[in-house]
Amino acid sequence: MPLTIEKISSITGIDSVVYLITNIKYLSSDFLSGSEIKYIENQIHCQKRELLHFQRASKIIFIQFMDMKKETENRLEILRKSGDRIAEILNKNHIKNISISDIEGHKTEVMALVEGISLGNYQFLNFKTKKSETKNPLKKIRIRSNKIQTNDIDSLMIILESVYKCRDLVNYPVSALNATKFAEEVTSFFEGTGIKTEVLTEKKIQTLKMGGLLGVNKGSVDPPTFTIIEWKPEDARNSKPYILVGKGVMYDTGGMNLKIHDHMNNMKADMSGAAAVAASLYGIARLNIPLYIIGLIPATDNRVDGNAIVPGDVIHMHDGSTVEIINTDAEGRLILADALSYAKKYEPELVIDLATLTGSAMRALGINAIAGMQKNAKDAFGKLVESSYKVHERIVELPLWDDFNEDIKSDIADIKNLGGANAGAITAGKFLEHFTDYPFIHLDIAGPAFYEKKNSYFGTGGSGYGVRLLINFFQNLKTNEEQL
Ligand code: BES
Ligand code: ZN
Ligand code: ZN
Repeated sequence: MPLTIEKISSITGIDSVVYLITNIKYLSSDFLSGSEIKYIENQIHCQKRELLHFQRASKIIFIQFMDMKKETENRLEILRKSGDRIAEILNKNHIKNISISDIEGHKTEVMALVEGISLGNYQFLNFKTKKSETKNPLKKIRIRSNKIQTNDIDSLMIILESVYKCRDLVNYPVSALNATKFAEEVTSFFEGTGIKTEVLTEKKIQTLKMGGLLGVNKGSVDPPTFTIIEWKPEDARNSKPYILVGKGVMYDTGGMNLKIHDHMNNMKADMSGAAAVAASLYGIARLNIPLYIIGLIPATDNRVDGNAIVPGDVIHMHDGSTVEIINTDAEGRLILADALSYAKKYEPELVIDLATLTGSAMRALGINAIAGMQKNAKDAFGKLVESSYKVHERIVELPLWDDFNEDIKSDIADIKNLGGANAGAITAGKFLEHFTDYPFIHLDIAGPAFYEKKNSYFGTGGSGYGVRLLINFFQNLKTNEEQL
């Protein structure tokens, strides 16, 4: 659970405090001495520092300067990062509570700061035996602001909880979270949210002839699952659903094309797309967003075994097409393809998939961007990109030009599961596109889904990428009169 956030009517002086200001004139001599104000002024204007702090007995006073000349997105991101820094400093000093004073009434800025503190304070302690020793002391944020209402805080809490849930799912190793456990876990967190879940087990997956999911699962000792999550509120504004599809490779060894060197490290995170889809739906339902949205999550691990698929195999997919396996490490697209063709039966308004699909996306854009591709979904894609900048989980578009169809042509089957040496993220997208007949957006989150080294408030380990993005996208969609 994220830390507690509450609204207070005045700064009492019992807590450490963050003062947010756009101008030095707002600093009052009631709580700062003349020399302190001089020092702050110098640091902000001459040293160009935006976050300052100093100790006052057992408390810490933070001054957060906000430059209103900066672009909003940029300013909000600076504040989230400051939030992470503040959480770090408070925890290092064993401080439990922090008050935030919104002196001038800058609601979005305060919310961004709180978001940064809370996301920065995340820890995954489920496998620590001495939890109380390792747990961050910071527990509570108190906000003093005339502009922020309790329902703003409630909504933010739901979003933060959703990100926490996503990170937890990603951080569990496969030994604790195989496909079945994953399905059980997400089913249990939807209890009481109004969401319906159905978990298709191996028999049903066989009946549906999902050859992609079954093919990848052939090397595993654990059965696959296919989880269907349905959020259909009575006041839904759309009759054709939006569908979210998440890659649920619980662990990716590469299969018979076993990953070499340290490429297998962190491959427990190969289900980050699945975790993001489940956690976003949790948030969407808790926020009561009046849109009909479905989540589809194919899940299995990708392993080596006597009967595992091998390069040269041809598999029969759910939609009847055949796929030649060139490389068993290109497994994500095989399980996603079955989910994408399964999605056709809903006649969806739009399908968005999230997947840690290719190392190529990471090589192209690094660890702070999502590679996005779209077919017949230009407007929705534009809105998603807008959301992506707002929440700072930015999407960069790659093309899905038909020229790339050549790369996945197979000699003996309809298509093959790997393109050439170039444009790997795009040819993976083209492979997925083959299984769609509706407006489609593909998001490759291989770069930012998991951080080996701490990346500010995104943390270490599962980052939760995709959750704030999707929730923001659907929140905006619901308030737009006009549908896409
Ligand atoms: N899960 C990986 C992609 C990945 C790589 C995610 C690094 C996160 C970090 C995917 O299944 C994979 O193995 N892709 C290979 C394809 C290869 C066969 C050409 C890749 O992109 O390296
Ligand atoms: Zn792989
Ligand atoms: Zn993979």
